[in-house]
Formats: sequence, structure tokens, C-alpha cells
Amino acid sequence: MSSADAVGREIMSRIERLSKASESDAVLTRRYLTPEHRKANDLLGAWMTRADMDVHVDPMGNIVGRYEGIEPGMPALVIGSHIDTVRDAGKYDGTLGVLVGISAVDALSRAGERMPYAIEVIGFGDEEGVRYDSTFLGSRSVAGTLDASLLERIDSDGVSMSQALRDFGLDPERFADAARKADEVAAYVEVHIEQGPVLERENLPVGVVTSIAGQTRLRISLLGVAGHAGTVPMQYRRDALVSAAEVIQLVESTCSAQPELVGTVGSLEVRPGAVNVIPGRVDLTIDVRAPADAMRTTAVDAITKGARDIASRRHVDIEIERFHDASSCECNNELSRELALAVETHGLPVRYLPSGAGHDAMAMADLTRVAMLFVRCAGGISHNPAESITAEDAAVSAEVLLSFMRRFSPASRGR
Ligand code: HGY
Ligand code: MN
Ligand code: MN
Repeated sequence: MSSADAVGREIMSRIERLSKASESDAVLTRRYLTPEHRKANDLLGAWMTRADMDVHVDPMGNIVGRYEGIEPGMPALVIGSHIDTVRDAGKYDGTLGVLVGISAVDALSRAGERMPYAIEVIGFGDEEGVRYDSTFLGSRSVAGTLDASLLERIDSDGVSMSQALRDFGLDPERFADAARKADEVAAYVEVHIEQGPVLERENLPVGVVTSIAGQTRLRISLLGVAGHAGTVPMQYRRDALVSAAEVIQLVESTCSAQPELVGTVGSLEVRPGAVNVIPGRVDLTIDVRAPADAMRTTAVDAITKGARDIASRRHVDIEIERFHDASSCECNNELSRELALAVETHGLPVRYLPSGAGHDAMAMADLTRVAMLFVRCAGGISHNPAESITAEDAAVSAEVLLSFMRRFSPASRGR
């Protein structure tokens, strides 16, 4: 690996260049199968090629770089993360993990090293699910667990995923060809910003993830009666927004009851949305997470039941759609221990910590054993343009990953 600061600087400058692949100059937003996604694929593909990898875009739009082992066609250690973003995103969520993977392979290639396994670096095209209300589309397609019905999902412009794949130059009929067989993959490791405050509070550059919280997402529509703000007496109103306000309070009170449980109402649409009209319809989304699946499902059931009670008491109709569920995921002990040993070889203390954020590793766990390395981020801020890391920490994560690669043995295949 060239000097650590050179590696750190290179990763940070590539982060900057990738951040320009955005649908707006003002904020960073990069959605699945858009021209911005293609720009990001092209940049990553060029950097992968420079690191002596064979590059292709798979049938679901994921960018894949392969660095052969000592013999061609060996099972691969997959290093990946997502390259799509939330709206008005930070620059590091997802993309850092792909760039760190490319850096580590580049170091092997410069040293002329080949491993007793292949290495594949994958930039998954969709994890945040902004365009199609999905999650983990890229990693689920590689893991072979993608539900074909998702291809007919329509985006806010009325474009189906199938059409978007065609517009991207891909054939939606071939989506299943993105799936890998279990014997083609030796393990999956993801490097990702922590998106929380622990590592910074403890002055640590990296940490090893123990488990990833499960998540449920609901869409709730409250259907009341729009009316004149000046003429309808309060007791006769069927106000969708006041009903929604009670539901939002219910989410907060339910999820405040247990320290590890979190619940968020992240989006709210009020119709017709005029100052002098009683709101007739409100659509809101709820995201509930917990490290234990039973804790999460109990909370989701309480919120669902409570929302129905509020709607009936306020004489509004209610529609509840549960559009996403992901079980919590344990990282593989043996692989995580190897990652921890790599951290120790850099003279760093090993800090194990859980992840409240979801990651592609959850989807890849259906295919192979997974481990994650967290990187400190300033203030624990993420999903926010203020998200940031240091070049030094980027370099440390690349060096830890490289040390891990040099000691990894694909022999043990437990999951
Ligand atoms: O929402 C999440 O946990 C991740 O950022 N997709
Ligand atoms: Mn994210
Ligand atoms: Mn992420």
C-alpha cells in the first residue's frame, strides 16, 4: 500500500468526484438506474480497471470489479456497499466501502500479490430504495433473493423498474442472472461509516460490527374530509392531519418505551395542503428498528393497532401498508474475529458494536457469511450533507481491510 496519507487522500478525492454524480448541483441525491448512477458506475469502473480488476455491470446495474486469485475462477471474497444515496445525502454513506475495497485491491495489484481466492468489489446500485420504495435491490439481486414482482414497481414519474433497466441498457428478463451461487462466494465484508457517535466518543477510527438491527417500514394513509377552515365547527371535522398527529405521537411513545427500540416518521404528505382547507388526506411513513426481531414486531403491532383505534375514534378511514421487513442479522463470528485481528495488527483496540442502520450485509447474509468494519464519522451524523470522515480514518480502514485480505482463508465456509 503506498503511503497511508496518499491512500487517504486518494479515497477522499474520489469521494469528492463521486459526489458530483448527483441529480442536483445543490444537494447530493443519486437514485437507482439514473444518469447519475451511470456516471458513478463509470467512475468506479475506471478506478477498478486501474486496480487491475476485470469490470462489468451486472444485469441489475451493480458495478462489479473482479481481481483473480492465484488461479482463475476461484471463489471470491466480496467487498461491497451501495452507491445510491438518500435525498440530500452525505458523501460517505455506501460509497466509502466501495472505494476502500478498490484501494485495498489496488495495493495488492501494485505489490503483484495474488490471494488463494478471487476478490470482487461490488457497488450495489440500490440500497436506500429512494426511487422504488425498495431496499437492498442490488445486494438482494446478487444474493439471489430478489422478488421478481419488484420489477413492476413504478417510480414517481411513472417509470417501472423494468423500463428503467431497459433505459440503462439492461434486459429485465435477465435480472436473475445477477445472482451468485453459494460456492462462487467465500465471504462478504462491508466497510461503512458508523452513522452513529460511539467511535468518535471513544476516539477510535474503526470498529467491528456484531449485529445489524432488523427494520420494518409502514406507509399509513388517513382519509378524512377536506372542508372549509372557516365554516366547519371543530366537533364536526374529520381532520386527517390531526389524526396523523396522534399517530406520530403514538410512534414516539411506543418506541421510547425501550432503549434499543427506535421509530421514525420520516415523510408526511398533507392534501390538499392549503392554509384555509381542513386536510382531507395525509400519507406518512414509519420506520421501526430494534436489535431483537420480537421487540420490533411487538412495537409494529402496537403502532398498527393504536393507529386503527385513533382513526375510528376520529371517524377517518385508514390504510396501512407494510412495505418492508428485514430481520436482524448477526455478523459471522469467525470472520469478525479475523477482522478484529486485522484491527489489532494496526495497534488499535478492537471495539465491537451493533449497527442500528441497515446495510447490504443483511441481504448478503442470505448467500454467505458476512462481517462489517465501521469507520468513525464526525458527530455520528449521516443521511445529512454534514456527514464527514477524515482521510486518516479512510486510510486506516483500507489498511485494516488489506491486512484482513492477507490473512483471510476461504477454507472455513460456515455461515
Ligand atoms: O436506512 C438505513 O438504515 C440505511 O441507511 N439504508
Ligand atoms: Mn443510508
Ligand atoms: Mn448505507
